[in-house]
Amino acid sequence: MIGQDLVARIDTARALLAEAANDYGPAVLASSMGAEDMVLIDLISRDRLPIGIFMLDTGRLHGETLELVERTRARYRIDIDIYRPDPATLDGYIAANGVDAIFTSIDLRKECCRIRKVEPLLRALAGKGSWVTGLRRSQSVTRAGIPEKSWDTDHGLYKFSPLAAWSSDDVWDYIRDRKVPANPLHDKGFVSIGCAPCTRAVRPGEDERAGRWWWENAENRECGLHPGYFERGNP
Ligand code: ADX
Ligand code: SF4
Repeated sequence: MIGQDLVARIDTARALLAEAANDYGPAVLASSMGAEDMVLIDLISRDRLPIGIFMLDTGRLHGETLELVERTRARYRIDIDIYRPDPATLDGYIAANGVDAIFTSIDLRKECCRIRKVEPLLRALAGKGSWVTGLRRSQSVTRAGIPEKSWDTDHGLYKFSPLAAWSSDDVWDYIRDRKVPANPLHDKGFVSIGCAPCTRAVRPGEDERAGRWWWENAENRECGLHPGYFERGNP
């Protein structure tokens, strides 16, 4: 159910999305097809905002995530642009380090994220005035200081996180109330969903992102898409 507090948060999120679209265009939404991103797609579609949507297909996503891209395209009648890693760079990395290199060191894991996500993100953001993400403060220790709107010094454009103040319950109340499509893996205990080899289900009481790179310390569990808040401290 959508209570009064959530109504207010929805209004704030809609105002932030409209600001990104109207004052800092061209605006784009980075969507991993996670629960937060599905809420944002629903809000953008309802308000018919001129915000493009893109996904970084790392080549290691779950089949369920790729299937959700198709379902979402059909349900909202929208385009979702797909960005993929540079094939030559990826081949070189795999040839030098093997397919399971990500489990052998944090540096090699981060290099995989750099090739499969961070570099394609640079291409997706080129020439844009703002980007929108589904980051929330309560997701993990690395995200406690996320602002709703900030200048992104790494990418040279404004960054909006309209759901920064939302709780996980807010997201799911919205999804259930408005019948927003969601990844079926959420029903199997997956809370935060990334690449298949680097995501596991979480147990009750665990941090929301405990299933991401679970073999590393909580302070390391980021992929480099959002560097400002944990590597340098808050801007
Ligand atoms: S992350 O560690 O992968 O960056 P998370 O899955 O919690 O974190 O996603 C946070 C936000 O980063 C998402 O709401 C989305 O805006 C963006 N994001 C993450 N993965 C992708 C992806 N594969 N494609 C596009 N955007 C993504
Ligand atoms: Fe590579 Fe895992 Fe990062 Fe995906 S999440 S890009 S598989 S290290």
